[in-house]
Amino acid sequence: MPNDSDPGPAAQHASRTADPTPAQAAHRRSQEEFERFVQKLHQQALESQEERWPLYLQAGLRDAMRVLDLGCGSGAVTADVVDASGGVVVGVDAAPEMLHKAQGYLGHRHATRTCLVTADGHRLPFPDGVFDAVVCNLFLMWTEEPQGVVREMARVTRKGGVVLATLEPDFGGKLHFPEDPLVDPIFRGEAIRRRGGDPHIGRKLRMFFVRAGLDTEVGIGNRRIWSTEEDRRSFERARDLYRNMLLANGLTPDEVEAWERRQEAEMEEGISVNFFPQFYALGRK
Ligand SMILES: C[S@@+](CC[C@H](N)C(=O)[O-])C[C@H]1O[C@@H](n2cnc3c(N)ncnc32)[C@H](O)[C@@H]1O
Repeated sequence: MPNDSDPGPAAQHASRTADPTPAQAAHRRSQEEFERFVQKLHQQALESQEERWPLYLQAGLRDAMRVLDLGCGSGAVTADVVDASGGVVVGVDAAPEMLHKAQGYLGHRHATRTCLVTADGHRLPFPDGVFDAVVCNLFLMWTEEPQGVVREMARVTRKGGVVLATLEPDFGGKLHFPEDPLVDPIFRGEAIRRRGGDPHIGRKLRMFFVRAGLDTEVGIGNRRIWSTEEDRRSFERARDLYRNMLLANGLTPDEVEAWERRQEAEMEEGISVNFFPQFYALGRK
């Protein structure tokens, strides 16, 4: 699988100067693209469950009565946070249409224990120290000023509480074999950078957390080397997304088609290997 970390709506802007707001950026997707993106978030949440749950346990979410899930998106991961925690979970996202999806998704199972708020992670509308735990997943890589966001996460956490970033990838550490000099650099970072994300956020988590005054542990949350069967399923699900990404990054339709054929042949033979590290950071205030 070339790349299973997907930009959020806020990442649609290519430049960091004349940025639209995340919500404006989200509207740049067609409805169909948006629906597909939401589907992918749910798929990713499923695939990463076994990596996130041990972190929720380690962070002591079970005893947390007030939890904030920042950049909650469509609620796929928020549902796990609700299940892992003992109290109320506030989901925050800058994109109202994401929260609309989250409302639908969380509605049945989690309505009594969730509350959804539209806000920007750089300026959280909460007083100091109100949460026992503040969590996020695949979020910091898409923020304009991750250091400011982590400071905000720490600010709204009570003394003794935890700040937890579950999966933040580092595409600089991406391994793909058989190597592909044309395409590998794109999936190793260029595609993410082009969409406004930071492909090397993983290695920076420790710095952000320490500078926010947190007693910090970092690690790599995923051990899975994508095998051929998983690759094949993931490739099929995200084929359009990858195709569009490569076209947007300058490949011709013929080159993209040739890449697809190579992928299929390698998967058929059962020899391809994909791995990229997903970091976590757990900080105590
Ligand atoms: C890749 S999605 C991840 C969603 C969810 N955490 C998950 O793992 O399924 C990133 C989310 O962050 C939101 N986002 C990006 N920048 C934001 C900001 N500055 N403040 C709040 N939300 C933001 C996007 O709207 C998007 O829903």
